[in-house]
Amino acid sequence: MKTNERYVVAGGSRLQGRVKVSGAKNAALPILAAALLSSGESIIHNTPIIRDVNVMLEILRRLGVDVEEVLTEDSGRTLRIRSDGLTGPEVGADFTREMRSSIFLMGPLLARTGKIRISYPGGCAIGPRPIDFHLRGLEQMGAKIEERYGFIEASVQGRLVGSEIYLDFPSVGATENLMMAAVLADGKTVIRNAAREPEIVDLQLFLNRMGAKVRGAGLDVIRIQGVKVMGSVEHKVMPDRIEAGTFLAAAAITGGDVTVENVIPEHADAICAKLREMGTVIQEGDDWIRAIGPTRLRAADVKTLPYPGFATDMQPQMMALMAVAVGTSIITETIFENRFKVSDELRRLGANVKTDGRTAVVQGVSRLSGARVECPALREGMALVLAGMAAEGVTTIEQVVHIDRGYQNLEQKLQGLGAQVSRA
Ligand code: UD1
Repeated sequence: MKTNERYVVAGGSRLQGRVKVSGAKNAALPILAAALLSSGESIIHNTPIIRDVNVMLEILRRLGVDVEEVLTEDSGRTLRIRSDGLTGPEVGADFTREMRSSIFLMGPLLARTGKIRISYPGGCAIGPRPIDFHLRGLEQMGAKIEERYGFIEASVQGRLVGSEIYLDFPSVGATENLMMAAVLADGKTVIRNAAREPEIVDLQLFLNRMGAKVRGAGLDVIRIQGVKVMGSVEHKVMPDRIEAGTFLAAAAITGGDVTVENVIPEHADAICAKLREMGTVIQEGDDWIRAIGPTRLRAADVKTLPYPGFATDMQPQMMALMAVAVGTSIITETIFENRFKVSDELRRLGANVKTDGRTAVVQGVSRLSGARVECPALREGMALVLAGMAAEGVTTIEQVVHIDRGYQNLEQKLQGLGAQVSRA
């Protein structure tokens, strides 16, 4: 994969039309990891064709898992996975550096093979992101964990044992990792202060269809009764609520009129509430949301929180909207320590953003002007695309490889709505 590709965005187009969102990245990744738990076949529909998923599939193949891909008409893809050939449970640094969430392979691999050796995931562009909750929970379930030479080695004699686990913070990844470890454990596990994200509900559905006994996903207490073996499963990955939110934000920032299809509207409640507050008209149906942007957005404050609060994965995109809104907006980022990296790049486009620790103050300007900028990370890159579409002139966005991690066919979808975005 080339890593020096860029987007060239000519600003000024009003986005209009319909766009269908793909399967959710953050649901597909843990579900692919969970396929390791099946003694039968996992058929997974609506898997997004994005770089993070490709990395996860490569990890699975290296672990000896058989992955067959079937492209489907609705532009998603169906995967057929068999993990009976599972061999050496080692995940190297090339993968954990590339995709930090590979850490949640620990739970399923430990449950299935009794051991795992995984390179310690480093920090990333949005903060240090420790994994202490993951490790502590697995230890409570009987895993012996050692950290040496940059690797985490975990093993268990026999099966993991069910345990009462309390998470200090409702971490999405730790909740998923421990759920996957617990489904094949001996006895009952209770995870308290669990994350409540919809992707965790999707994982529960997948696991239960495979034969697991998990209850409570979507609430802050998840109860898992371990079973001895799990069989074949067929599942369709839920729609990507962050992708949906991003297209609604694109309508809002360009004064456009976009209907996002194939969504679960309740998943986008927090983002829709903010877009309304900023002057966007929002209409909803059973599986669609329409956003009609105003001539000029109004300022609004955003505080990121665990679900059902405002998603940190929409925060950078909101900063782009605030940059052109009338008035002063304040962002309080409570999930990650260092998630304002895009502010430097937005300033190059003329935005007036000041950050201090976990707070950003955005004084809206009447216009941004195109410039050369660089994606610091996935959602941050997307924020630059939004800002570029609202700016006067041409914006060149370097390192779109970050955006490719999480958005399927982005430029085609945006072009379909009338945006002038091309890859060079
Ligand atoms: C997941 C999402 C990511 C999203 C994030 C928060 C996936 C693949 N990724 O990431 O897109 O931005 O949720 O909604 O689903 N923490 C610890 N110790 C731990 C684990 C987490 O201190 O052991 C902290 C993190 O540093 C962070 C906070 O908890 O400050 C939330 O992280 P977490 O919910 O775990 O995020 P991820 O699962 O990594």
